Amino acid sequence: MCQGRLRSMYTRQNAASKDLFDRATGSLPGGDTRSVTHNKPFPTFISHAEGATVTTVDDEELVDFLNNYTQAIHGHAPDAVVQAVCDRLRAGNGLGGPTEETIELAERITDRFPSIDRVRFANSGTEATMNAIRAAIAFTGNETILKVQGGYHGTHDVAEIGVSKRGRENAGIPQDVAERVITVPYNDRETLKELFSRRGDELAGFVLEPVLGAGGMIPARREYLEAARDLTESTETLLLFDEVITSRLSTGGEQQITDVYPDLTALGKYIGGGLPVGAFGGRADVMNVFDPEAGEVTHSGTFNGNPATMVGGVVTLDELDAGAIERINGYGEEIRNRVNAIGEQFEIPVRATGAGSLFQIHFTDEEVTDAASTESNDERGIGHRFYLAMRNNGVFMAPRGMGNVSTAMSEEETEAFVTAFEKSLHELNHE
Ligand SMILES: Cc1ncc(COP(=O)(O)O)c(C=O)c1O
Repeated sequence: MCQGRLRSMYTRQNAASKDLFDRATGSLPGGDTRSVTHNKPFPTFISHAEGATVTTVDDEELVDFLNNYTQAIHGHAPDAVVQAVCDRLRAGNGLGGPTEETIELAERITDRFPSIDRVRFANSGTEATMNAIRAAIAFTGNETILKVQGGYHGTHDVAEIGVSKRGRENAGIPQDVAERVITVPYNDRETLKELFSRRGDELAGFVLEPVLGAGGMIPARREYLEAARDLTESTETLLLFDEVITSRLSTGGEQQITDVYPDLTALGKYIGGGLPVGAFGGRADVMNVFDPEAGEVTHSGTFNGNPATMVGGVVTLDELDAGAIERINGYGEEIRNRVNAIGEQFEIPVRATGAGSLFQIHFTDEEVTDAASTESNDERGIGHRFYLAMRNNGVFMAPRGMGNVSTAMSEEETEAFVTAFEKSLHELNHE
């Protein structure tokens, strides 16, 4: 089915979304308040959600494989989390002093992640990576940050460099910030070694995801992570893992699976029970830069350690045990395998990448190992048509082809995904 037909079907089926979008453009630039949810011809407005489904304002129920970009790990409105958060709100929230719930969540995190001796909370993954980078600069005395091309770590200035091939992403970022960020391709050990031999001594930190998330859901090769660990250690540069997405892959995150441990880790997404959250932690000697008695880095925030967020996080982590993780990782693997097997029957080149409960569908016949290999393909723009086809077939996922499994899902949703995938590919193949 061609783009025009897919779009007109989408427009027909989502008249109430279109009306809201037109209204939104009168008060919100571009009709939204989040760049990533903008999408052509107009975004789907959601009215409510429960478990594994979201319901649109046009009253269509969609199987939700987006899960707010991996945040809703237990699906939507999980009973125990809603109960705990409501109880906390009734008992007062935003109290201007610390509460026990913050220790409860901090202890769960330090128990689950052996590399995290001390942790601090913030309100987004953006703040988590921003503060982790700030700690690295304060601790090492160096100001240059190394990151991966296509690595997304939020929207602060340093993080915005090198997210796409264009380099400096936003016109508002000062040139001198761009000058102290170096980027390297993902999974390329030789380039990394070469970079460290030339500039290792200038670096405060190397920040990377152990599975490249927004850059394509691409797992790191173990030898690449090991090289990152060895090179940072030998140059006294800090290794920062952004596990905002990947921490869901085991109780101790992807670092536990690969057995490569960073100095600092950033967390976010699901660890606040659906309320805005970020966390950053790691070696006690580094994190002590935030100790008001011993360190010199200020870290304040009206909503840091927000009690409702903290209890939401505690209940969420308690329900996310090894068994739950194993189950959703299994569904993710099944989806990747079946997508790859079905893809072979069609002319359109397609392959699924990912790890555990995380996956992304790429329209390419090349091996996907870094951000460039995801961007170089799909010249025919199949990706967006695929997104619209899946959407028209009742599955909600990221327009870039990313999906993830929540614990609210079972074999039923996995089947629904694979059926919609096969149907969508069929439609695209017969354009
Ligand atoms: C790996 C990674 N780091 C950081 C962030 C930023 O998190 P937030 O959107 O909560 O600021 C994201 C967001 O998608 C992310 O995927």
